[in-house]
Amino acid sequence: MEDVNTSSNSHAWENLFQHHESNGGLSLIERFNANPERGSQLSFSCGDLWVDVSKQSLNAETVELLFQLAREKGVNDFFHSMSKGDVVNLSEEAPALHTSLRNPLPSGMVEENLGRMKELHQKLKTGHLVGYSGKQICSVVNLGIGGSHLGSFMAFEALKDYGNPELEVRWSSGLDIADLEDALLGLDPEQTIVIVCSKTFNTFETLSAARRTQTWFLEGGVNNFSSQMFAATSEPENALTFGIEAENIFSFSSSIGGRFSLASPVSLGLMLSIGYENFDDMLQGMHLIDTDVLANDKNIPLLLGLVDVWNRSVLGANSLAVVPYSYRLREFSSYLQQLMMESLGKSISSTGESIEIETGMAVWGASGTDAQHSFFQALHQGTEIMPIDLIGFAQLSDKTNDELFANLIAQAQTLAFGQDLAEDADSVTEYEFLPGNRPSTVILAPELSPNILGQLIALYEHRTVATGVVWGINPFDQWGVEHGKKAALKIVDELKNSEVSSNHDSSTTSLIARYRHWRND
Ligand code: F6P
Repeated sequence: MEDVNTSSNSHAWENLFQHHESNGGLSLIERFNANPERGSQLSFSCGDLWVDVSKQSLNAETVELLFQLAREKGVNDFFHSMSKGDVVNLSEEAPALHTSLRNPLPSGMVEENLGRMKELHQKLKTGHLVGYSGKQICSVVNLGIGGSHLGSFMAFEALKDYGNPELEVRWSSGLDIADLEDALLGLDPEQTIVIVCSKTFNTFETLSAARRTQTWFLEGGVNNFSSQMFAATSEPENALTFGIEAENIFSFSSSIGGRFSLASPVSLGLMLSIGYENFDDMLQGMHLIDTDVLANDKNIPLLLGLVDVWNRSVLGANSLAVVPYSYRLREFSSYLQQLMMESLGKSISSTGESIEIETGMAVWGASGTDAQHSFFQALHQGTEIMPIDLIGFAQLSDKTNDELFANLIAQAQTLAFGQDLAEDADSVTEYEFLPGNRPSTVILAPELSPNILGQLIALYEHRTVATGVVWGINPFDQWGVEHGKKAALKIVDELKNSEVSSNHDSSTTSLIARYRHWRND
């Protein structure tokens, strides 16, 4: 057995590694030949989703051992504690309340958020939302970054067919002025509202952009923009201090993690576009999966998290590609990058011990079939085994797309089995040979609707949390990103005041000098 120090002396981990020792050498072709029922035995429904893990390098015994590991790590107890509002984010001594945002029970979270957002949407839709000069509002600019941008922007693109064609919604997340300039291009300041999304209302990029839009308003003749600026934040006091009017502030609990906040007022821009009913339908899809996770100890989000643990910690794969065969879902992998890598990219456990097992895979991807013309060569013939999620829909923009689906299935098949040597045995050169045995999970859905998007989002949220709990990681904090922010602010001061610190390393010092030279200092 490999000399692996797990994060705790655990029978379940030992059983898994022993199982790998005895089973690990089987190829996917051998696994399928040994069991004609494998495809159906390792495929499961989850809400309206169909999840096929039969092309992963595992078998039914592996799955059972993984569920034993989950039981030993108390994953299901964790989910119940989380949904009850217990403190599960240990380093910040806070609960994680994202599932309460979409729980229709009179918990107050859903009513409070949705009620006011619904009213604003109603005012906009009926033409009663007007700007400083009395003109009807017809455009929205959404400012935010990370969890205050990626999820709602992804959902906006995914649900473009459900959006209000009369409303122009733009998105800006970065510090590069070109980002905001593109978002504002061609908009009439008198007919535009700006939504400043920031959980802390203290993020440099977002507040800089918000100040620039205030200048844009003034230069556009909007002498008083207070009725045209809104905020989505868990720090309403900071928004008030910034100058946002109280009735334009949509607040939510600080115990909602940024990357888990898609169901919160951070998605106000999305909701103004697709409307209250569609937004609520998305929340219902999330809630459907939330309910399943609590009701079923062997739920599919947990299974997918356990497959991630198997691939990362036992098989040693250090990345996960996510490829939706849908143009509208092309932002999904960017959203998952933050959700999964900011949750799982950690080497200290939730109780402060260092973690000895491999954790936190790199998450990346693009939409298919573009991805086939980009990085699939490496997936098929590279030296690195890179597991992949292939996500497909029977109906897209209410049309079937046989070619798109055929490509998804063909890729899953070729990754798993290589080319069928029986057909190509004579003609395959060394360069053409496809080794196969490349694992994939196929997730299928009937259509890309608000409800099913909600189910997909909750599936990956719970998958991420489950993986973290198995690894002993706190999936809800992100201490690793705080230092960089502070260091940047110090260097900004040096650049502005032309006093470069002598404490920098020689690389930083020479880079700053070159930057200043080219900046025409
Ligand atoms: O990247 C660090 C981070 O704190 C993320 O966790 C968060 O989603 C993002 O910055 C934006 O933070 P805020 O919503 O407070 O502006």
